[in-house]
Amino acid sequence: MSPYAALLYFDDEQAAALDLIRAADLVPAKVQRHFFPDGEIRLRLPDALPEHVVLLRTLDHPNEKLVELLLAARTARSLGARHITLVAPYLAYMRQDIAFNPGEAVSQRIVGRFLADLFDAVITVDPHLHRVATLAEAVPARQAIVLSGAPLLADLIAARRPGALLIGPDGESAQWIAQAAARHGFDHAVCTKLRHGDHAVAIALPPVALAGRAVVLLDDVASTGHTVAQAARLLLAAGAATVDVAVTHALFSSESLKMMRDAGVGEIWSTDCIAHPTNAVSVTPLLAQALHSLFRTRP
Ligand code: R5P
Repeated sequence: MSPYAALLYFDDEQAAALDLIRAADLVPAKVQRHFFPDGEIRLRLPDALPEHVVLLRTLDHPNEKLVELLLAARTARSLGARHITLVAPYLAYMRQDIAFNPGEAVSQRIVGRFLADLFDAVITVDPHLHRVATLAEAVPARQAIVLSGAPLLADLIAARRPGALLIGPDGESAQWIAQAAARHGFDHAVCTKLRHGDHAVAIALPPVALAGRAVVLLDDVASTGHTVAQAARLLLAAGAATVDVAVTHALFSSESLKMMRDAGVGEIWSTDCIAHPTNAVSVTPLLAQALHSLFRTRP
C-alpha cells in the first residue's frame, strides 16, 4: 500500500474505519459533518490530501449518504486527491435493475453512473446483481471490484452447524449458496419466491428432505425480514429441526429481528458490512486485501 493513501471516514463509521486503517495501513482522515437546521449538510475534509484517497461509506440508509459522497469526492479532488476509491461494503440501489412498471427509474443504472462519475474505483461486498452479470455493468467505474461474504459465512456455519442444509430463499441467492456449498460441501437447495409487495412474499420450498435437518437460510440481504420469516415458517412446518440465518447485509430493524425470531428462527449471523447487533464475521481483512491489490495494480 502506498504510505500516502488516506482513508476518509465519517464519525458514525469510526470503529470500522479504524479497523480498516490498521489492516490496510492507511492514514486516517476524518470528515467533519455539520447538519444545518434546514437539513443541509456541511462537510469539512482535512485541508491537504495525498494523491490516493479511499472513502469508506457503507450505503444503508443511502439517500443522505449519496449527497455526502458527492460533496466529499468533489472536495477531495479539489484538495489534491487524484485517485479516489469508494469502499462501500453495502452498495444500495442495486435491486431496482429494470423498470418493473412503465415510467419507473432504473435506480441501479442511475446510481451506478453517479458513483462511476465520482470515483475511480469502487469496492463492495455481495452487491445484489441479478439481471446483470458484472458490477462494471451497473457501476461503470474504471475498476469495479466485488468481494463476497459468502465464504466467511460458510466458515462460520461449518463451525457452528456442521452438516447443515443450506437453503437460499429465492433464485437470486443461488450464487451465494453455490459459493458457500462449494467451500464446505454442504447439502443445498434454493426456494422460489414471488414478492407481492414490500411486506408480502410467497415462497415455495425446494423438493428436498427436510425432516430433522439443521437448516441455515443464506442470503445477501435481510431487510423487512419477511423473506426469512416466511421461509423459516415453511421449513419448520416441513420438519426442519432448526432454522438459523446467515446474511451478508443486515439491513433489518429490531422489530424485523423480533418477527424473524417469532417465526422460529434461532441464530442470526451477519457480516459487519453494516454495523448491527447480529454481526458475527468481519469483512475488514477482505477489504484490506482488495485495497492492497488495487494499489499494487493501479495504472
Ligand atoms: C432479494 O432478492 C434479496 O436477496 C432478499 O431476499 C430480500 O431483499 C429480502 O428482503 P426482505 O427481508 O424485505 O424480505
